Amino acid sequence: MDFNLSPEHLLIRKMMAEFTENEVKPIAAETDAKTLYPRENIEKLFDLGVMGMCIPKEYGGQGADPLASAICIEELSKQCASTGDIVATHNGLCCDPILTHGTEEQKAKYLPMLSTGHKVGAFALTEPNAGSDASKGQTEAKLEGDHYVMNGSKIFITNGYVADVFVVFAMTDKSKGTKGISAFIVESSFPGFSVGKHEEKMGLHGSPTAEIVFTDMIVPKENMLGREGKGFNIAMQTLDGGRIGIAAQSLGIAEGALEEAKAYTKGRVQFGKPISKFQNTQFTFADMELGCEAGRLLTYQAAMKKGSGERYTKEAAMAKLFCSEHAMKTTTKALQMFGGYGYTKDYPMERMMRDAKITEIYEGTSEVQRIVISANMGL
Ligand code: CAA
Repeated sequence: MDFNLSPEHLLIRKMMAEFTENEVKPIAAETDAKTLYPRENIEKLFDLGVMGMCIPKEYGGQGADPLASAICIEELSKQCASTGDIVATHNGLCCDPILTHGTEEQKAKYLPMLSTGHKVGAFALTEPNAGSDASKGQTEAKLEGDHYVMNGSKIFITNGYVADVFVVFAMTDKSKGTKGISAFIVESSFPGFSVGKHEEKMGLHGSPTAEIVFTDMIVPKENMLGREGKGFNIAMQTLDGGRIGIAAQSLGIAEGALEEAKAYTKGRVQFGKPISKFQNTQFTFADMELGCEAGRLLTYQAAMKKGSGERYTKEAAMAKLFCSEHAMKTTTKALQMFGGYGYTKDYPMERMMRDAKITEIYEGTSEVQRIVISANMGL
């Protein structure tokens, strides 16, 4: 596998690094402190073609590959993991399943909205009693004439209170277990759709997480995504791709923390020399750098495999598991290098550490990634 980035990928990285420095970094602390959805930056990301960038040009997108999307999420997350998460969810969990499983009519209707139309996307699988055991959702969709009537609720939905388009999973035949789950494209304007509790989270404050509720919600029959009963497979396949996004996000968090710590330790003098000159600091940096390099290779490998149409379930899980655990380790160690200052809100370390934690939990916990990896080892 060739890991040299193409001129196009290098250009995308440069563009996103500049955008992150000029637009994302200046508001990252306030976004966190005030729990603000970074609306203006998301609008600018639509204008730049980053939102829905893998959507083919015929539907308004850029026709970019999964590696390009991963690079964007990585760069944004170096300064604001919330912004990275909003993009990762929109691109990986909403645009991707509609592109992969949608009918021509569905693609023609929804993909332009999600690229040039500035409509934000989300993915609704998790329920109060169906987290890691994703197949146990109780949301039901009953066919009545030319539409389904959906009842139930979903929790922890990223982009939940800002999204316009949701990919939702519901039981269409309770007697069939996972084969009774179907996927639907739902609009927030559908009668019976409502937003419930806005979650107050430890981190990722700029990423809008909410419960969504369906009360006798009318879903047109033609909004079923993929075939009836194929919803669980669609959810799993979508999460394979989504996990590359979270790998890229957590990689970006680790890289951002590493850069902040390098700059700080070079300037912080204790015991007569910059603390970057102590071997203890240097060995810690060596481990951080090694993990970022390994995580980058795993993430880009998974993205390239997805781009080439190969199966990449195991690679995506490995990348997500490794990068999220490395982000947690790196932010914790980087904060330690800042000493007492790291524990204050004068520096971004405590925010980065809080943001890193969720990457070990959502889109499949670290334990679920180990299930997925071992299930794909021919044991
Ligand atoms: N691609 C396609 N199909 C897949 C698949 C994949 N990667 N993995 C499994 N399947 C299929 C299987 O082939 C099987 O299909 P058949 O019955 O047709 O053979 C079916 O799915 C059931 O497979 P399993 O028996 O392996 O499923 P399971 O119930 O044992 O679950 C699991 C396995 C890996 C634990 C899965 O439940 C899982 O990934 N759980 C975690 C869920 C998760 O990541 N949730 C995150 C929610 S989204 C989110 O966080 C975003 C947000 O907005 C915050």
